[in-house]
Amino acid sequence: MEFSENKINEIRNIVENKYKTKYPDKMDRYNHILGVAKMAKYLSNIYNIDSSRAEICGLVHDYYKYESEDEMKKLINPKDAQECAKYPVLYHSYASAESLENVFGIIDPEMKSAIRNHVFGHTNMTRLEEIVLISDYTEENRKYDDCIKVRNVLLSGDLNQAIYDSTKYVINFLNKKNIVPHPMQYEVLNEYERKIKNE
Ligand SMILES: [Fe+2]
Ligand SMILES: [Fe+2]
Repeated sequence: MEFSENKINEIRNIVENKYKTKYPDKMDRYNHILGVAKMAKYLSNIYNIDSSRAEICGLVHDYYKYESEDEMKKLINPKDAQECAKYPVLYHSYASAESLENVFGIIDPEMKSAIRNHVFGHTNMTRLEEIVLISDYTEENRKYDDCIKVRNVLLSGDLNQAIYDSTKYVINFLNKKNIVPHPMQYEVLNEYERKIKNE
């Protein structure tokens, strides 16, 4: 289902209001959210998928970000909470995925999955899921060297290489910080390595 400009504006206003009232010192996060929505819209037009769904995924993907772990646990199911206890970065993506229906009234399994998996991606992603994942890493407010390199690869038209590179850079970053990467990050890395070799 495509969404109207009105619906997109309504969602943007809700997200903006939430950050302004609850986290006024985190408006850079709101700007990141706008950047992800903009990049997702741009890429969905290039890759010929409906841009309204991609834009909404961008607007919603970090809806919950600064809530405490206790607050997040109330928003997700117990099985997800077990995984999040091991990989706390997932609290915010799993909780934000629930907000798609609970806050914005949208029931769309593919959009939900794209938001849920925006941190690491997963195997056999749809185009929408790929776009949300890579938009998070490459939106215009990201200033890290690695992000800029991947943005250039992406904007040159090589989506598979961009996903491979971003996954590799994130794994390297985690290893440097002595944080154990999630097994799915290696699965995604291997899948996109295969895709690049077969091109
Ligand atoms: Fe996020
Ligand atoms: Fe994000």
